[in-house]
Amino acid sequence: MIQALRGMKDILPPDNARYEHILRTASAVAGRYGYTYVETPLLEETALFKRSVGESSDIVGKEMYQFIDKGGHDVCLRPEGTAGVVRMFIQNKLDKKGGLHRFFYHGPMFRYERPQKGRLRQFHQFGCESFGEASVYEDFTIIMMVKDIFDALGIGYEILVNSLGCPECMPRYREELVGYLQNIQEALCDDCRRRIATNPIRVLDCKNETCQRHLADAPLMSGHLCETCQSDFTTLTQLLTANRLPFRHDPKLVRGLDYYTRTAFEFVSSEIGAQSAIAGGGRYNRLVEFLGGKPTPAVGFALGIERIMELVKMPESAREGYYLGVMEPAALPAVLQAAHRLRQNHTVHTEYAKKSLKAHLKAADRLGARYCAVVGEEELSQNAIWVKDMETKEERRLALDALG
Ligand code: HAM
Repeated sequence: MIQALRGMKDILPPDNARYEHILRTASAVAGRYGYTYVETPLLEETALFKRSVGESSDIVGKEMYQFIDKGGHDVCLRPEGTAGVVRMFIQNKLDKKGGLHRFFYHGPMFRYERPQKGRLRQFHQFGCESFGEASVYEDFTIIMMVKDIFDALGIGYEILVNSLGCPECMPRYREELVGYLQNIQEALCDDCRRRIATNPIRVLDCKNETCQRHLADAPLMSGHLCETCQSDFTTLTQLLTANRLPFRHDPKLVRGLDYYTRTAFEFVSSEIGAQSAIAGGGRYNRLVEFLGGKPTPAVGFALGIERIMELVKMPESAREGYYLGVMEPAALPAVLQAAHRLRQNHTVHTEYAKKSLKAHLKAADRLGARYCAVVGEEELSQNAIWVKDMETKEERRLALDALG
């Protein structure tokens, strides 16, 4: 028996209803914030992710589904959505057009990570990217949008925020951090030691307890922000406070992707175990230029649909639509016509086999139909159909033509 690959999951009933509910809710909220739906290919040139997510990130270094295609091109399955949307933005010359462009997307992402609860190799994200707005008010508005999505889904969260600085203040801070890390490198794990040269900021969020003990006095970005970065971060936290958002400044929040500048944030849930991040995002003002486009400020986020599926409670679904069946097969053509008429406005389940009334009622109940409609011998002779309201238990006989 061939099984699905490790870390990859089918989404089938009853979970599919939660999946759809999350997508529908998030898309509706994004629409109200002026975002429009876009799709980009699952497969892109590997260089796109190396340049954007960063060669020294775990995602590019260890987790890519990368291969050479039949034409000899180095390609990979997208590990995240931002890079593809930025490529789309530049390739379609939207950077040259100027103005504001706001997009949302959803679909599968692929990371060859060690599977565990909440961590899959194929998972689904819903994401938004906003191009052309440099104001920190846009960062705030994006965080409000994520809040609206989780509120609409009835999910609790805490928001972690940080500022990662800009090309003016980040290099100075990085130098100081590297100096500090070099002094304690003997005490750090292999990963951290390697990162001192490649990506020192990532050392700060190492999960190893010994490393964290030695990092207790490490210099933090928050003490090194330039005036503009500091003023933007203050504005952001003031706005979050004024709007009573449950946030905490986490000076060690660095995110696992290299493209961020200034605002970085994560929404975390305490109810789903170690993989607690349910959404993450931030500003990436340099990425469009870095990938060959006209310099364009940008900010975005993505949420992990599978992690949210663990948290979302579906509203009790009401009985809906019709179940149509026959006890007399001769009635089937007329019943199918009625089904087609009803389907213009209702969900309709049809059963083609001759069954007892009891069996039809049981099937209608299992399918969650509001009405069970059956043609028996007597109905056939009168060109009628027997209909039972499964909720009120009321029974009626109608002309078959009158149904639908
Ligand atoms: P990310 O933090 O790597 O950001 O992923 C966003 C969300 O995807 C996470 O918070 C988590 O819920 C979910 N996720 C990530 N990896 C897995 C996994 N292996 N299994 C299940 N769920 C997972 C990004 O991907 C950025 N592109 C977000 C962004 C958009 N930043 C700016 N614009």
